[in-house]
Amino acid sequence: MDYLKLIEKEIRKQRFGKEPATLYEPIRYIMSLGGKRLRPVLVLLAYNMYRSRPSGRSLKLKTSGNQTLQQIVSFAVAVEAFHNFTLMHDDIMDQAPIRRGKPTVHKKWGENTAILSGDVMLVKVYEMLSALEPELLHKALPIFNKTAVEVCEGQQLDMDFETRETVSEKEYLNMIRLKTAVLLGFSLAFGALLAGAPEQDQKLLYRFGVGIGTGFQLRDDILDVYANQDKFGKQVGGDIISNKKTYLLIKALELCKGKDLESLRYWLSAKKFNKKEKVLAVTALYDKVGIHTLASKKADAYFRESYALLKGLSSGVSIDDLTDYAKVLMSRQN
Ligand code: IPE
Ligand code: IPE
Ligand code: MG
Ligand code: MG
Ligand code: MG
Repeated sequence: MDYLKLIEKEIRKQRFGKEPATLYEPIRYIMSLGGKRLRPVLVLLAYNMYRSRPSGRSLKLKTSGNQTLQQIVSFAVAVEAFHNFTLMHDDIMDQAPIRRGKPTVHKKWGENTAILSGDVMLVKVYEMLSALEPELLHKALPIFNKTAVEVCEGQQLDMDFETRETVSEKEYLNMIRLKTAVLLGFSLAFGALLAGAPEQDQKLLYRFGVGIGTGFQLRDDILDVYANQDKFGKQVGGDIISNKKTYLLIKALELCKGKDLESLRYWLSAKKFNKKEKVLAVTALYDKVGIHTLASKKADAYFRESYALLKGLSSGVSIDDLTDYAKVLMSRQN
């Protein structure tokens, strides 16, 4: 996809800083590992919906106002950098050994470096965004700040829930809205803002992003149990090992009865255990009550319901590229 090429090129250009290399190398490392580049793609997709040439579905971006195309791509990359900062710290919190098929930053350089590289990364994000024209900066900054704070709130809830015995579906949905979905909403609203889209469209795209973002995190939770390890690039079973209160676990606690429920509770309270054994046992319990299908249906419903929102966008705006992209995300394997 043309967007990906633009994004990768811009990422390769970014050095983030020079000395000490031990601080900046981990940033270049995580940024270079690839991944779907979902958030910057959403920025550019939304931007292009309002700025593409009349020839229709051309992927060529037109420049906006005083901002050059290159600047637009660098703003999209700022959102990717923010996402990667959250991943660097998330992997410490989740004790994750691999990310995008490679050792996580804290495994490679130690937790202290991962904390500090992440910190400076967040500052760099603000540095990148400060190149926005004053009027755009004034509009974008409050929404970005709100989003960034919400991501932290969601991440804290995610950790708090690990040690809680029960978490309701509603609490879970709110937690994933905060930790994941709002950033997808922001990406789309930001792209639309950069292109000068009507405010009502920015708001609608934000809601669409939050909708598909919820489906996206549900899918992430499914993949954490059922993905092919090589394709996934992350440790399969990590959520089970750390008692994450995912939709899968919440539903299994509702649906398992008798001995199965006892067994599930045993694994949740076990202090010392063999990780592989726990992952196998809990997955078998999930299978018994059809969790995979149940969670997939829930994720798909979030995607489907979101598509309907796009009907409310200004007339003449082509939504084809965005819906095509969302459909690919819906059935993602990594
Ligand atoms: C991982 O995000 C964190 C979640 C919010 C699930 P992605 O699944 O977008 O990860 P990359 O960027 O493609 O590696
Ligand atoms: C992470 O959720 C969300 C953020 C990084 C803000 P997860 O912990 O499920 O993400 P992965 O599975 O490690 O990518
Ligand atoms: Mg996490
Ligand atoms: Mg994680
Ligand atoms: Mg996950």
